[in-house]
Amino acid sequence: MSLAFFNGEFLPTESVVIPIDERGHQFGDGVYEVIKVYDGKPFLMREHLVRLENSAKAIRLEMPYSVEQLEDLIHEGLTRAELRDAQVYLQITRGIAVRLHAFPDAPPSVSMTFRPSKSLTEEVFNAGVKVALLDDERWLNCYIKSLNLLPNVLAKQTAADRGCFEAVLVRDGYVTEGSSTNAYAVKDGVVYTHPANKRILHGITRAAVLQVAAELGIEVREELYTPEFLLNADEAFLTSTTAEVLAITQVDDTVIGTGKPGPIVRKLHAKFRELIG
Ligand SMILES: Cc1ncc(COP(=O)(O)O)c(C=O)c1O
Repeated sequence: MSLAFFNGEFLPTESVVIPIDERGHQFGDGVYEVIKVYDGKPFLMREHLVRLENSAKAIRLEMPYSVEQLEDLIHEGLTRAELRDAQVYLQITRGIAVRLHAFPDAPPSVSMTFRPSKSLTEEVFNAGVKVALLDDERWLNCYIKSLNLLPNVLAKQTAADRGCFEAVLVRDGYVTEGSSTNAYAVKDGVVYTHPANKRILHGITRAAVLQVAAELGIEVREELYTPEFLLNADEAFLTSTTAEVLAITQVDDTVIGTGKPGPIVRKLHAKFRELIG
């Protein structure tokens, strides 16, 4: 079943009503994480919660719980919800206060949902996906996992309208990342991906995949690359908590490589799955 947590209480998801003056609701004034749970084990949970702490710090939001306390709450939620394969959504906002922009004198709000996981099918992994290249219209602090996702939402919808799985974003002539994924191009056996600076989210899956690539002896260059480079790549792929390692087989009207997931993507995904266990 699915379950929610709001400010200290576990409740049925449908029964939670968020107060009208909640700042997440009014300003998107908060940060979040999504953690995937495989067979009862939250995957890379510590890494996600450390990133949450870093995002909170970046927006000057004091964390109401330590990483260890959040870990305990997540385990408790999964047990209460009786979920083995799940997705945990966790957000912290600047609390509940009459609407004024400046920081309120209010405790932060913590909400979580525990839901059965919605994994992509093996058919999707085996076929790969089509993506659309779109302008990156986000702010300049994309390393913060902030609730403000309007440009991401609009890009994802435009991509969907064009029959694409994802929007791959371009800023100042270079590919940054997907609307909810990190993006990669493979050329002559080398994996290229945007450097982990302020212009992209430092994906937890990205870090794991870079480690997996090192173990496999696959060279990775964290360098800027252009849309043209992506269009001429031998392979391309996306990574995220929910998409794992997912081949891009078409960018707009251009087929990438053979039009099927290539050897490097397949190797990385297989090794990544070993990490999941
Ligand atoms: C903009 C963006 N980039 C990358 C990712 C992938 O991050 P992770 O691997 O931590 O899920 C996400 C995930 O939501 C995202 O929203």
